[in-house]
Amino acid sequence: MEVIICPDADEVGRVAAAKVARVCADEERPVLGLATGSSPLAIYAHLAAKVEAGELDLSAVDAFALDEYVGLDRNHPESYASVIARTVTEPLRMDPARVHVPDGAAEDIEAAAEAYERAISEAGGVSVQILGIGTNGHIGFNEPTSSFSSRTRIKTLAERTRLDNQRFFSSLEEVPTHCLTQGLGTIMDARHVLLVAQGAAKADAVAATVEGPVSAVCPASILQHHRRATVVLDEAAASGLRLRGYYQHVYAHKPGWQRFA
Ligand code: GLP
Repeated sequence: MEVIICPDADEVGRVAAAKVARVCADEERPVLGLATGSSPLAIYAHLAAKVEAGELDLSAVDAFALDEYVGLDRNHPESYASVIARTVTEPLRMDPARVHVPDGAAEDIEAAAEAYERAISEAGGVSVQILGIGTNGHIGFNEPTSSFSSRTRIKTLAERTRLDNQRFFSSLEEVPTHCLTQGLGTIMDARHVLLVAQGAAKADAVAATVEGPVSAVCPASILQHHRRATVVLDEAAASGLRLRGYYQHVYAHKPGWQRFA
């Protein structure tokens, strides 16, 4: 696991966007794994700037979002379909037909989950999966004690997650209780995983992910088993890490040919 500590949240976005661009340049048919939430917004802003500058073309790239609420209309402004369209597809000038979000409004939710898994593998698998992290260590909506080998499925949201996400809705009652999320096994199949976190509220979850035991109580800790996991943090999110100095030393001495930012 590579841990990169940046001076501020914007630099987190710049470095992580550079990683995404590098993976896209290295693969013939790159497939992006998208996350919602506030954490990856700076990545999307930096990628949009690259698209604007003509340095990056994502118009023929397939993309798959991690998750979607169940029981929320697709056209609701806070459905992840709407959020991804607004924050990713449009600013990155992607083809809406190639940007996929699980169908949380499907009548047969199990069939929708299976179809999503199939679509990912038919596209060739995810090249780089962008991830934020919940304050309870969730990735996607894989709440604590999620199976490490889980695939896309329906999950009940933890109350803490509903409270964290209440800010996007007018009341707690409006926050859905269920979601459709890629599983931890699905996420681990991506060829690269890229987790970003900013702010002190994420410090405990980040410390458990990077330095804690691998335990389903902190679902993101499974990333310790990924061959190519990159974690990009601001100082506040990194504040709970014991080996902070070591990560900074390693990054400062990273060979030039391995650098992407
Ligand atoms: C949400 C999403 C996750 C996201 C996390 C953190 O509920 N399902 O994909 O990483 O919670 O959100 P934020 O980045 O806004 O803190």
